[in-house]
Amino acid sequence: MALLLTGFTQLLTFKGPAAARCGREQGSIGLVKNGAILIENGLIRSAGTEKEVLRHPLAKKAREIKIRGVALPAFVDSHTHAVFAEPRLRDFSLRTQGASYAEIKERGGGILSSVRALRGQSQGKMASQLVERAARFLECGTGTIEVKTGYGLDKASELKTLKAVKAASARTSLEMLPTLLSAHAVPPEFKGEPEKYLRYILSEIVPEAVSKKLAVFADIFCEKGYFTPDESLRYLTACRTAGLIPKIHAEQLSNYGGCIAGAEAGAVSADHADYARTKDLRAMRRGGVIAALLPVSNFFLGLSKYPDARAFIAEGVPVALATDFNPGTSPCWNMQLALSAACTHMKMTPEEALCAATINGACAVRAGNRLGSIEPGKQADIAVFDASDYRELCYYFGANLNKLTIKKGKIVYSGKILK
Ligand code: NIG
Ligand code: FE
Repeated sequence: MALLLTGFTQLLTFKGPAAARCGREQGSIGLVKNGAILIENGLIRSAGTEKEVLRHPLAKKAREIKIRGVALPAFVDSHTHAVFAEPRLRDFSLRTQGASYAEIKERGGGILSSVRALRGQSQGKMASQLVERAARFLECGTGTIEVKTGYGLDKASELKTLKAVKAASARTSLEMLPTLLSAHAVPPEFKGEPEKYLRYILSEIVPEAVSKKLAVFADIFCEKGYFTPDESLRYLTACRTAGLIPKIHAEQLSNYGGCIAGAEAGAVSADHADYARTKDLRAMRRGGVIAALLPVSNFFLGLSKYPDARAFIAEGVPVALATDFNPGTSPCWNMQLALSAACTHMKMTPEEALCAATINGACAVRAGNRLGSIEPGKQADIAVFDASDYRELCYYFGANLNKLTIKKGKIVYSGKILK
């Protein structure tokens, strides 16, 4: 039976081409007042003003739900490390005493401490933890997340992570798109031998991740002390040949060359990009690379420097926003906080930020053709917020204004998680 949603004070459609929006288009939200949406078989059949939608032949027989609020495409969170065994509370305390990300690594914390914890965890436990976390995302209006491995760093643990994502996907409505991030750090077994470790990933992990269809994307942490731009380029190119779509953690802690390496490797997105310079932005624009900016991690790390979103937009590079949900730098699953941080700390307009969290997020996971906007033919992934003006989503911060999440046409959250 068709579902008719009415009563929206505002509906943000983001209608337009199934491509990442850049420059002025980044601020185009497709605003409809007194909006309604008609859904059938998991897809949007009609969206527009109530008057328009009610004229659709299917509308008469549809089940109607009247709900006041602001409706938009469910968020697409294009960068998360949602599979981890434990929170890093010791790192957190050290940071409150002034330790930096690099110092915490020196003192036995950081990524490798998450690796130790995850290697000891069973696949079943990982999957059930992820199902619980998935509920948090749905509750906050997110319909799709990208999920990285990267806390296993050996064949068994990386594949265990990917299998846990697959198992969890069958038990939640949240859509999870898996990324192989085995090149997150050099594990102790390969200490001082990053090249050798990358060869190991390519020969031992990538083939199985591809043949068993366990991963869609491949990512690498391009940073001093992790992997160089040269290594990143060669590694991502090989991953691409093997059938994975490249992504890259680039210029997070320094200007190191990751954005250019990503552009040369054909990456769909370069993420973080805090220290990107004009030459990096130009390479990204030429290569069609999306900048996935992660201001919640800057906020959590207490940094005063944020990625220069305005420069990306001025240069014509599409900007996506994501949470970077992870135990080290961003223990936050709420995209509404990313919206707020983007507006207050990166001077994005609310319109640009909302576009970055929806259609551009969808494009950063190559799903712009089916997700990220509310138009006939698109998947019915919708979130409704307790607000009368969309700017309230960026303005009230630290809150969850979401009151209804619809995934593939099904209500999955309405005050409580339904699945
Ligand atoms: O995106 N920079 C690398 N990866 C994560 C942090 C991972 C961690 O500290 O566990 C990030 O910030
Ligand atoms: Fe990350």
